[in-house]
Amino acid sequence: MKTSIHNLKILDIPKIKDPRGNIAIVEKDVIPFEIQRIYYLFDVPSGSKRGGHAHKTLNQFLIALSGSFDVIVKDGIEENRITLNNPSKGLLITSGIWRELENFSSGAVCLVVASDVYKEEDYIRNFKKFVSHNK
Ligand code: TYD
Repeated sequence: MKTSIHNLKILDIPKIKDPRGNIAIVEKDVIPFEIQRIYYLFDVPSGSKRGGHAHKTLNQFLIALSGSFDVIVKDGIEENRITLNNPSKGLLITSGIWRELENFSSGAVCLVVASDVYKEEDYIRNFKKFVSHNK
């Protein structure tokens, strides 16, 4: 099934502002899928790139908990670069979208909220195969 990068959304995460420090809250109604896993990228060396794959069924929600990084999204026809640098916003990446993460700032932490547990068979790691899969 064809998925377009135009389906991707930046969602606001509800927050409680407080002079003592803010709280952002990801409750189940914030993300349009049931959460099965969270993981996070941290200690990313300068110049390092992550991602470089798509998922057949997995949906993910990415949050820059700290610092910033760029997410390049591709649907096989178009591509876009999205900078995440705000812990109260997240990028919803639905299945069928190729993603690459790069340009991590020092100390950046990327939280990934995922709709399923880790399954290698859900990955498409070859861009050509991705393009034909997404036709
Ligand atoms: P990968 O998802 O390719 O990393 P990224 O897209 O963030 O660059 O995962 C890198 C390796 O870690 C790969 O061998 C699979 C393994 N891994 C798990 O075992 N469980 C997980 O939940 C994740 C995200 C990765």
